[in-house]
Amino acid sequence: MSNRLFFAGLLMAALAATMSAFSQDAAPAADSGAAQAQPGARPRRPLPKPVNLKVLPKDIAPEELVKIMRGYAGSLGVECNFCHAANAQTHKLDFASDAKEDKSFARTMIAMTRTINDQYMSQINDPDAMPADKHVTCGTCHRGHTMPEHFVPPPEQHHHPAQGAPGAQPSPQ
Ligand code: HEC
Ligand code: HEC
Repeated sequence: MSNRLFFAGLLMAALAATMSAFSQDAAPAADSGAAQAQPGARPRRPLPKPVNLKVLPKDIAPEELVKIMRGYAGSLGVECNFCHAANAQTHKLDFASDAKEDKSFARTMIAMTRTINDQYMSQINDPDAMPADKHVTCGTCHRGHTMPEHFVPPPEQHHHPAQGAPGAQPSPQ
């Protein structure tokens, strides 16, 4: 059997398991044996409840959690597997696992970002700030990179002799 067929088989088995879990969720009063998803329908996979949250709220809705996770991935320009390790047997990502160092770095970053916002950004009452300016996010620093790019200010230009003269126009360079 090719690997592809093997994984397709695994996927079908997982799908069948989640479909029956889903129909039970959707119709708690129904006899679980009778509650079958319609043939050909594509039920939304129910997201499992998180079991290993240490910095995000433990009661967060799974949908909300995944939205936040997509934000992290996009902000750093990576996929989920940058922080999440795969299970050695199934090769599927084991989201609860803490095997990857970057997940632990991310936890520190989540706590850091929260402290910046709660303790410092909250003190800035800048009338010019738009709502999105009022807090920092992963993207404020990372901007699509795992390591924030270094910003080196351009060399200062304002010592040009013509510029210092009274009435002189700023040099266009
Ligand atoms: C930059 C690192 C990073 C990326 C990228 C990332 N995650 Fe996470 N993820 C984390 C951290 C950190 C936690 C644990 C948060 C905590 O401890 O409160 C977590 C937790 C989770 C959990 C909860 C697991 C459990 O049972 O506790 C799920 C599910 C999850 N991530 C899914 C995803 C998905 C899906 C993606 C891709 C769209 C993704 N993550 C991308 C860092 C990341
Ligand atoms: C104030 C700026 C800032 C913010 C905000 C920020 N980071 Fe970072 N992050 C950094 C810097 C700087 C580094 C490099 C630190 C180092 O590697 O020693 C870094 C490193 C990381 C790394 C390790 C990258 C690698 O290649 O090893 C991860 C993962 C990470 N950040 C995730 C996040 C996540 C997730 C958020 C949002 C919750 C976030 N960061 C918010 C500045 C920031």
